[in-house]
Amino acid sequence: EKDGYDYFMLKEIAEQPKAVADTLLGRIDPSGSLTLDELRITPADLRQIDKVVIVACGTAFHAGLIAKYAIEHWTRIPCEVELASEFRYRDPILGGRSLVIAISQSGETMDTLMALRHAREQGSKVLAICNTNGSTIPRESDAVLYTHAGPEVAVASTKAFLTQLVACYLVALYLCQVRGTKWGDEIQAVIKDLSRISDEVERVLETMEPVRALARTLAGKDTVLFLGRHVGYPVALEGALKLKELAYMHAEGFAAGELKHGPIALIEEDMPVVVVVPSPSNRSLLHDKIVSNIQEIRARGARTIVIAEEGDEAVVPYADHLIRIPVTPTLLQPVVATVPLQVFACELAAARGNEVDQPRNLAKSVTVE
Ligand code: F6R
Repeated sequence: EKDGYDYFMLKEIAEQPKAVADTLLGRIDPSGSLTLDELRITPADLRQIDKVVIVACGTAFHAGLIAKYAIEHWTRIPCEVELASEFRYRDPILGGRSLVIAISQSGETMDTLMALRHAREQGSKVLAICNTNGSTIPRESDAVLYTHAGPEVAVASTKAFLTQLVACYLVALYLCQVRGTKWGDEIQAVIKDLSRISDEVERVLETMEPVRALARTLAGKDTVLFLGRHVGYPVALEGALKLKELAYMHAEGFAAGELKHGPIALIEEDMPVVVVVPSPSNRSLLHDKIVSNIQEIRARGARTIVIAEEGDEAVVPYADHLIRIPVTPTLLQPVVATVPLQVFACELAAARGNEVDQPRNLAKSVTVE
């Protein structure tokens, strides 16, 4: 059933263009308007919402962190993201006008389920973003938007993550459509780019051989750091999580702006540091700042592994290894930027002789709190 791949994880990474396309299918019509009929929360209710709260665990939590940037930028509705396991223990402020989004691949994660039960007890509407038909989380939610990643067998989440991102973008854009916020050229352009994003994922997959080769050379390392800014920050967290769970290496993700506030002390000679670089075309200040971050860590001996857009020449002098990703709008970049990190972790784990599909101590769905 692995279709010739050595691991389910590799097969699932390769299935990502289809998973993304399937999740978009039938939801964007040719005129660029969105149809989310299954949502079951009325436009009138969606217009009332004054706050979005996202709850999730692990990789799904990282999708939520990225969604926050999109939701707030496009809809101007305040959005919080919280680890489901922390949520109900701090007496969160919720009400009838809060929309709680529970993101879960399996639909059975107990922490996320308990968080959504708590939200419903407070009178909030809960929307599940879920990959498993008829599982507990969508059954207990007011509404569900299914991701169509297909079954994910490898313990480490890959294609589910990309489809969670897509589903979050759809919800954010649908909120814009229903509420009329910022509905205009920018949003229309994003919808167009989103509808083409699976082709971009396909293009990234075609260029992964050097990433595999690089990963194999790092099998003897103890630590890998990941840096990013803006939506690249949660991508860095996701890259680090993949490496921890698969390669059993010390891996940490940081917001690059935090480096000087502490983490830069970790940098040692030849320590691999992966940097997710935002597009130079948008938010150029952010881009300049991360380029100086790369310079700083390299001056302290780091081996820099830079993930940057095609055509971004400013990073070239400071990249010991350069991984190119296609040009995408800033908020959609995580869909393409995450893929090399998945491949990197998978290959490193294999090179270290680990069980890629069944990492030690982990289960595919965590049904205890
Ligand atoms: C990481 C991973 C886990 C899950 C987390 C939530 O690769 O698979 O971190 O993302 O346990 O699981 P779901 O999405 O099923 O609620």
